Amino acid sequence: MALLSSVPYKAREFNLSGLQGISDKTLEIHLGLYKGYVEQTNRLTEQLEQMVRAGQASGANPAYAEVTRRLGFEYDGMILHEYYFGNLKPQPSAQPSPELRQAIDASFGSYDVFMTDFKAVGSMRGIGWAILFQDPMTGKLSNHWITLHQDGNPAGFKPLLVMDVWEHAYLLDYKPAEKSRYMEAFIANVDWDAVNRRFSAAAAERPAVAA
Ligand SMILES: [Fe+2]
Repeated sequence: MALLSSVPYKAREFNLSGLQGISDKTLEIHLGLYKGYVEQTNRLTEQLEQMVRAGQASGANPAYAEVTRRLGFEYDGMILHEYYFGNLKPQPSAQPSPELRQAIDASFGSYDVFMTDFKAVGSMRGIGWAILFQDPMTGKLSNHWITLHQDGNPAGFKPLLVMDVWEHAYLLDYKPAEKSRYMEAFIANVDWDAVNRRFSAAAAERPAVAA
C-alpha cells in the first residue's frame, strides 16, 4: 500500500445538462454518487496510511484487510464513473474515427456486430458496467461485463467506451424493464471524440502473434 493521502483526489466537474433521454435530475444524483466514491477513496486511503504508520499493516489484521478490499471497490467506482461521464456529451456530433472503425471491424467484423454485442453485455441481468476495452499488447478490442466496479476488469486493458448499467443510472427516467431504452439514450449521447482520443492513446505495444 503506497502512501498517497497527501495528494487526495478531487472530484472532476462534468457539464452534461441537456442529454437526450437521461434527465438532469438523474445526472445530478449520479454525479453526487460519483463524488461519494471520490470521498470514500480518499478516506480509505487515509485510513490505510494511518494503519501503515501505526505498524498495523498486516494481512492478519482484519481491519487492514477489509479497508484494503473496500479500496478496490471505491477506487474503481470513482474511475469508471469518470470514464462514463467523460464519454457523454449533450448533442454530440462526432463519429468513431476511421482508425477506431478499422479496429472495431478487425475485432468484431463490423460496427453493427460490435454494437449488438455491446448492448447484449449491457442488457445482462444484474448491476454492473458494459465496457469496450482495448488490449494494449495487441490492440484488439473486446466488450466486457464488470460487476461491482473492481470485478472483471481485464488487467492493463484500456477502457474506450464505458456504460453504467447500475439501476441508479436510469431508474428515475425508465422502468427497470426498460433498460434497453436507457442504453439507446446512452448510445445517442456518446461523445465519440472522447472515445477516439482514448483509442489513439492506447497504441498497440506489440502485434498479436499469429497462430
Ligand atoms: Fe453509476
